[in-house]
Amino acid sequence: MTTPDKAWTTYEQALQSLSESSPKLDAPALVLRLRKAFPNADVREVNLAVETFIARRQAPEKLGAWAKEGHFSVSLLQQASRESIATYRAQFFEGRSHVLEIGTGTGSDTAALARVAKHVTTIDGDPIASELAKRNLALQGISNVTFLVGEAQTIVPSLTENFDALFADPARRTRTGERIKSGEDYSPPLSFLLALSIGSLRAIKISPGLFVEPCPEGWVRQFVGYDEECLEQTLWYGSPIKDSSIVVTDRDARWEPPEKELIPPIAESLAGYLVEAHGTLNRCQKLESFFHQRHIQPVAQDVAYGISFERPEPSPLYTSYKVIEDLPFSKKKLKEAVNQLGWSNRTELKKRNFPGEIEQIRAELDLPKHTHASPFGVVFFFRYHGKPWAVIAERLT
Ligand SMILES: C[S@@+](CC[C@H](N)C(=O)[O-])C[C@H]1O[C@@H](n2cnc3c(N)ncnc32)[C@H](O)[C@@H]1O
Repeated sequence: MTTPDKAWTTYEQALQSLSESSPKLDAPALVLRLRKAFPNADVREVNLAVETFIARRQAPEKLGAWAKEGHFSVSLLQQASRESIATYRAQFFEGRSHVLEIGTGTGSDTAALARVAKHVTTIDGDPIASELAKRNLALQGISNVTFLVGEAQTIVPSLTENFDALFADPARRTRTGERIKSGEDYSPPLSFLLALSIGSLRAIKISPGLFVEPCPEGWVRQFVGYDEECLEQTLWYGSPIKDSSIVVTDRDARWEPPEKELIPPIAESLAGYLVEAHGTLNRCQKLESFFHQRHIQPVAQDVAYGISFERPEPSPLYTSYKVIEDLPFSKKKLKEAVNQLGWSNRTELKKRNFPGEIEQIRAELDLPKHTHASPFGVVFFFRYHGKPWAVIAERLT
């Protein structure tokens, strides 16, 4: 594929003026307009120009300021590692002589690795991804990278260089964008990547929801968060990271589980403060130890809500709420209680392991429209001692 150097700027300018005059145009409409304006243009190049134009609007928030001029497709951008996560992970590769990367994508991880290692060789099965990543790295002034195109399963066995570290980010979505649940359906498959005996340090990025159990000999699982969510998981080999540990990269927050698992009792009462654990804690399957260390009692097994009788210390790893009332779930009683508080429709409804549908409950509560002065709060839904329950609470500031 030849990316249209000369045509690119022309397409870009045309897209800019099209979207200024008709800001609601979506991707198919932009493609049609561009093809009409440039009837002799290569269809794939027009598609790519439109994709890039759209992706560039979203890219800087995820990848940093340079990305407003970067080269992406929407799906490559969707799969790209966030800048803060790529940078966090790359620090473990500091000083490595030659890192092999599988799954170049947009080049987000490639750039982070190339900043700390002497050289990176990166492989991608998709020639367009490779070409775009090449451009993205050049934009950032990075030149210590060799780009290879082809299936890693074919290329890796033929490589003769000495690599002292491996990073892999396999594709975890189908061609139509759905998430792939099984590691064996990743591309390349997880078993292929785990079996590669390359370097003394290895990392494989996988989905946060895939709990690799048992974890293969020598490997550990790390759950990686950004903002409120657990976005990904890294399997590490040869790193100082402890198994089932968590990191929230934008909050500079970390936690590692104690050697011996701690199991607190289920909360006897729901009075006090409700603590909502960060998404990473839920994924790492060591939530109970985390709660126990902080004298928090879970409301149920494997549910990320706990109760603290004392006001919890502020933490980037959980959010705390003051419990106002708790009640066995009844739409009528809940509506009465929330109405008495005068809460508006800005009230948040959150559920974990609860049979009811939040949107249906919201419709039935029929809370008044939010105005500047109206109070609002949070209602949690879960099963307490096996019964559907609601907790009415206020977020602590
Ligand atoms: C999740 S993306 C990588 C994202 C990248 N880390 C980033 O930050 O942009 C996975 C990449 O693996 C590539 N890929 C899929 N199957 C492959 C294979 N068998 N060999 C090499 N690359 C492959 C895809 O083309 C895709 O670009």
